[in-house]
Amino acid sequence: MAFQPDLLQGRTALITGGGTGIGRGIALALAGHGCNVAILGRRAEPLEAAAEEIRSRGVLAAGIPADVRDPAAVAEAVGGAAALAGRLDILVNNAAGNFLCLAEDLSPNGFGAVVDIDLKGSFHAAKAALPHLRKQGGAVLNISATLHYLGTAAQLHVSAAKAGVDALTRVLAVEWGRYGIRVNGIAPGPIADTEGVRRLLVGAAKDRAAQRTPLRRLGAMRDVCDAALYLCSDAASFVTGVTLVVDGGLWLASSGMVETWAESLEQAGS
Ligand code: HXC
Repeated sequence: MAFQPDLLQGRTALITGGGTGIGRGIALALAGHGCNVAILGRRAEPLEAAAEEIRSRGVLAAGIPADVRDPAAVAEAVGGAAALAGRLDILVNNAAGNFLCLAEDLSPNGFGAVVDIDLKGSFHAAKAALPHLRKQGGAVLNISATLHYLGTAAQLHVSAAKAGVDALTRVLAVEWGRYGIRVNGIAPGPIADTEGVRRLLVGAAKDRAAQRTPLRRLGAMRDVCDAALYLCSDAASFVTGVTLVVDGGLWLASSGMVETWAESLEQAGS
């Protein structure tokens, strides 16, 4: 463990999309550091399984079925999370949709589905959480991506949504600082064994991504979880409006031009 096990003792978090993938990983990490955790997701089955795992860490847990695209359901879920232990300290906006599709083939509904889940869903949850978070102060953590830093083909919908999420992080940080609420983000690169990697890095793309990453591997769940623990805890008490890139340097190394140049230098030197 990188942090003391009582890092988040007595706090309560709500994590959207917390039944699977990165959301589940963060839920378990927070629970392992003393935090009560409510998880929200569309499917009851993985939610209940994850809630059981959270409980096994010795904290309170609730699996709340809801779709982040439904503001009323989100508000109800936020109320349920706050009722777990009488307070809400942390909101992690993690629920996300993704599929590979070129812009020319993308339907209005396909574009809208991802924007509705990633961007509007984050807004709905943050807005509903505000009255609870401002009671004692707290932290919002938005899970973003690096796809929109460059032009990633077949990811127009996700890039637009995540660029909006980053804007949400910055604006809410400015507006809610006076309530003692910090708003930050994490932009993970490819994280091994997640649905995102299964969907996006098909065939040899997974190995290629690892080779292109300056730190020479895909991310592990722990990499994202440690960043989340830091940003959600008092260790980051003067940090707000930041989106922390956790990708081993991959996006910085993703300019084809620079790569070609470096390769020719390497070849010239050998
Ligand atoms: C083209 C597609 C499509 C596809 C869905 N659509 N999948 N279009 N190619 N593969 C279109 C549908 O045709 C439809 O438009 C619209 O999207 C909505 O689809 P529905 O199935 O009706 O909606 P819904 O079930 O509500 O949501 C679909 C979904 C969701 C958004 C695709 O099921 C989903 O994303 N699940 C995956 C969750 C996931 O993997 N999350 C991790 C993300 S990781 P029409 O016009 O036909 O009605 C991440 C970061 C990755 O984002 C970074 C790694 C490097």
